[in-house]
Amino acid sequence: IPPAPPGPLRFGGLKLVDDRDHPWRPLRDGDIRGPCPGLNTLASHGYLPRDGVATPTQIINAAQEGLNLINQGAKLATYAALLLEGNVVTNLLSIGGKTHRTGPDPPSPASVGGLSHHGTFEGDASTTRGDAFFGDNHSFNQTLFDQFVDFSNRFGNGYYNYTVGGELRFHRIQDSIATNPEFDLRGFRHSTAFGESAFIANNFVDGRKTGAEAHQLDMDSALSFFRDMRFPRGFHRAAQPGGGEGVDVIFNAHPLQPGHNVGGVNNYVVDTSRGSLFDQCGIYTYMVNTTIRDLYPNPTGVLRRNLNINLDFLYEAFGFTSADCPQVRPFGRN
Ligand code: HEM
Ligand code: MG
Repeated sequence: IPPAPPGPLRFGGLKLVDDRDHPWRPLRDGDIRGPCPGLNTLASHGYLPRDGVATPTQIINAAQEGLNLINQGAKLATYAALLLEGNVVTNLLSIGGKTHRTGPDPPSPASVGGLSHHGTFEGDASTTRGDAFFGDNHSFNQTLFDQFVDFSNRFGNGYYNYTVGGELRFHRIQDSIATNPEFDLRGFRHSTAFGESAFIANNFVDGRKTGAEAHQLDMDSALSFFRDMRFPRGFHRAAQPGGGEGVDVIFNAHPLQPGHNVGGVNNYVVDTSRGSLFDQCGIYTYMVNTTIRDLYPNPTGVLRRNLNINLDFLYEAFGFTSADCPQVRPFGRN
């Protein structure tokens, strides 16, 4: 039976996390990494299993302990990821590509593709990863990182911050609208795209930086996380739990509704039917009633039981009150 998610850190303050118990190590043969620089780094320091396959509890604990991700954010990302691309029977998720190490697959069309699998969680217009349409949606992309540096120079005096995030987020989206005929920024991706742009300034900046230096990420540290999957030497996590702070600033720099290209490039059509950054209930409801239900048309036994348990954890992580957004139960109740 899947265990209840971990609560918040007991001590959520400033702390050296590049410590002796968590040395960075290079990849061994078979170690899996993927599109998320946060999880990649946590795995390469041993906060997560170094092979890149982990349980929800391990992922939540690692994201909290190593990067001070706020409890609700850690739970939401983790249970969404498990339900969309993990194995709910073995309770294992790959932080990158598909692997037999998550155990026997449930019946198709269940994906269990790992976080690199495009379309459910992983999405387009990432900051340092290309769109799946162009072939590689998970590896560090030097050209995109050069653009990250350029924007940080132009809009942030050499640092990435919310102002830079607002400009770069919009630029990455415009670039994809103009070049990717399958560009999709609907629903969950509308929210995660803006959210990730905030994480970079909130969770990758050393917590000892305060005042004018707070939420300003230098380029050496950025490269360390994005490319090397490594904490900057002597890295201290943020001084308080966080995640999405500043996302409103980033969004408001260039407000853009969710949507997708229809029939080719340069034809971005707004579609709010799957939710948006500002309609989390729409995201939740579409994710459960359509995406997850389509993956599991007729689950039985332990599969159905565990889907239901994890759906409860997911609903709880969104933090709705049932009047705001009622829980939906496509598989009934256990
Ligand atoms: C992508 C940061 C935790 C899943 C990203 C990106 C950032 C980021 C900055 C965008 C990378 C890019 O666009 O180049 C973080 C940080 C975390 C964290 C700082 C912890 C504090 C998590 C967790 C999950 C997750 C807990 C799920 C279990 C993903 C996925 C992507 C991603 C699937 C790919 C989305 C995309 O850009 O297409 N993460 N993340 N992350 N993250 Fe995380
Ligand atoms: Mg992506």
